[in-house]
Amino acid sequence: MAASLKNPNVSSSAEEIEEDADYYNAAACTVEKRESTADHKFPSFSGSFPKITVCWLTLLVIIGLRIYFTSVIAATNDKLITELHNLQLKNQQLETDKKNLTAQLENMETAEMELNISRAQWTYDQYCKIKAGGKCYSCQNGWLPSGSICYDVNDPAPPDQRSWEEAREDCRGKMSDLVVVVNEAEKRLVSDHSWPIGEVDHGYWLGLRVEDGKWKWVDGNDLTDLSWIQQLPATEGQCVVSPSSNEWRSVSCNEKKPWICKKKGLTL
Ligand SMILES: *[C@@H]1O[C@H](CO)[C@@H](O)[C@H](O)[C@H]1NC(C)=O
Ligand SMILES: *[C@@H]1O[C@H](CO)[C@@H](O)[C@H](O)[C@H]1NC(C)=O
Repeated sequence: MAASLKNPNVSSSAEEIEEDADYYNAAACTVEKRESTADHKFPSFSGSFPKITVCWLTLLVIIGLRIYFTSVIAATNDKLITELHNLQLKNQQLETDKKNLTAQLENMETAEMELNISRAQWTYDQYCKIKAGGKCYSCQNGWLPSGSICYDVNDPAPPDQRSWEEAREDCRGKMSDLVVVVNEAEKRLVSDHSWPIGEVDHGYWLGLRVEDGKWKWVDGNDLTDLSWIQQLPATEGQCVVSPSSNEWRSVSCNEKKPWICKKKGLTL
C-alpha cells in the first residue's frame, strides 16, 4: 500500500512512459503494474533502512503517543474532578443559603402576621371597644365623623397651643394630617367647628401654607380657589387658620394656635 503511494514520485521517467503505455493498453492491469514497479524499487530503500527498524520506530511512536495521550487524559480527568468537586461545594453552599433564606422568610412572615394582629387589635380598641357593647364606629372616640371622614378638633387652652409644624406633627402621630379642605361644604363644616377658646377667635390651623411662593395643601395640591384666602401675596413662613367667621387668615407659622386633623374613616 505504502509502495503504491510512493510509486509516482520515485519512478523514473522511462518507467513512467512504459507505465503510461501499459495504462492505455489495458487499464485493468494498472494496479498490478504499479505494484510490480514498487517491488522493483523497494529493495534499494529497505537495504539502507531495515524493516525491523521501521517497526521499532513505529512501535516507539505508538508507545510515545500512548504515554502522551494517557497523561493528557489524566490531566483533563484531574481538572474535571476538581471542577466537579468545586461544583458540589457550591451546590452545598447554595443549599445552605436556601435553607437560611427560607428560615428568614418564615421569620418575616411570622413577624408580619404578629404585626397584623397587633394592628387589628389596635383598630378594635380604637374604633369599637370604647363605646358600649363592642359596637364599632367609623371614627375613633373623640373624632368628629362626617360622611366617610373623621376630624379631630384640638382646642387646648393657649399654653398648650402649637405652631403649625408642631400641630402637623400631632396629626401625623394620630395617622392623619392637618385638614385639607376640598370644597365649600367642608370649608363651612371646618369653620362651624372652629369655635372660639376663652372667647378669643384664634382660628385653627389648616393643612395650608406657603411653599415655593404658592399656597399649597399638605397633600401636595395647590389652593385652587384663591378667594378663600384674603391676604396677598403668598409669603414664605405664612400658614392659614380658619376662625369661626369662615374668613381664613394668613398668619406666621410660628404662632401658637389650636388645630384640626383629618383622616379617612373606617368602612363598616
Ligand atoms: C443566615 O443569614 C444571616 C443574615 O445574612 C446570618 O446572620 C446567619 O449567620 C446565616 N445563618 C447561617 C446558618 O448561615
Ligand atoms: C397582613 O396584612 C396585609 C394587609 O394589610 C395582608 O396583605 C397580608 O397578607 C397580611 N400578612 C399576614 C402574614 O397575615
